[in-house]
Amino acid sequence: MIKLSIMFKCPHCNSQLKRSEHSWVCQNKHSFDISKQGYTHLLSSNSARILGDHPDMIKARHAFLNAGHYSFLRDALVEIFKALKLNVCVDLGCGEGYYTNALAESETQWIGLDLSKTALKIASKASKATYFCASIADTPLMDRSMDGALCIFAPYKLDEVSRIVKSGGYFICVTPGPRHLYGLKEVLYETVRLNPNTTINDTRFELIESMKFDHLLRLNSTEMIQNLLTMTPYRFKTKAEALANLQLQNTLETELSFIIEIYRVH
Ligand SMILES: C[S@@+](CC[C@H](N)C(=O)[O-])C[C@H]1O[C@@H](n2cnc3c(N)ncnc32)[C@H](O)[C@@H]1O
Repeated sequence: MIKLSIMFKCPHCNSQLKRSEHSWVCQNKHSFDISKQGYTHLLSSNSARILGDHPDMIKARHAFLNAGHYSFLRDALVEIFKALKLNVCVDLGCGEGYYTNALAESETQWIGLDLSKTALKIASKASKATYFCASIADTPLMDRSMDGALCIFAPYKLDEVSRIVKSGGYFICVTPGPRHLYGLKEVLYETVRLNPNTTINDTRFELIESMKFDHLLRLNSTEMIQNLLTMTPYRFKTKAEALANLQLQNTLETELSFIIEIYRVH
């Protein structure tokens, strides 16, 4: 097992962090307590004003994911990482750890980063992964320290991914396919636009494999439909009338479409 402490840097002075029983400390005596749930606040002053997802979004996503609706995506990711056989990986924008915790049930050591404390409290309960409150744009990770980085439906900064992932390591990016949640959008909007292509075009990232997973989701409860809505940005971008219309529905059929792209980092 690799010592994780050599991977982390102090968000104030960039020197190496060492783990003691209840905190992470650097040589300049900057100290960061490990919360009782198990995550550590390592947000740099540059990122202190950026917020993660709203707690309502996190709670809705937690309920929706735990009902198993995206378990096929989780299982596919577990298989991909099993085949890659990596030592240390980070999940950027890990949310409440649905995927990170499943991935951490392996030989790979997993680190989860997110800005939302609500998410991290859920994620770090009884988990084998190590969780930090930090921004994906300014991670507390040493240069070229990760064998792999994962980003599922979260923002990423290619400069930062390229800084933290070893040369020859991997960046695995999960994005919505063109028709992801098409049926939900049909209820909410008069004109439905397809999701744009998000393939990375950057010489530091070489696409080595792209996979598409399509499923049909049928929901039979108003509560689960509302959870699906609330975990998406549509909850905040839709007119009140359309939201009220969705509230009347107790069934919903919608396409799910995920694209998993595996890049080699140069
Ligand atoms: C759509 S959610 C996806 C969560 C998780 N990857 C999943 O698929 O269940 C996006 C996550 O990114 C986090 N996030 C947004 N901006 C961030 C940033 N700049 N740094 C770290 N996390 C961020 C949010 O708090 C949220 O948990």
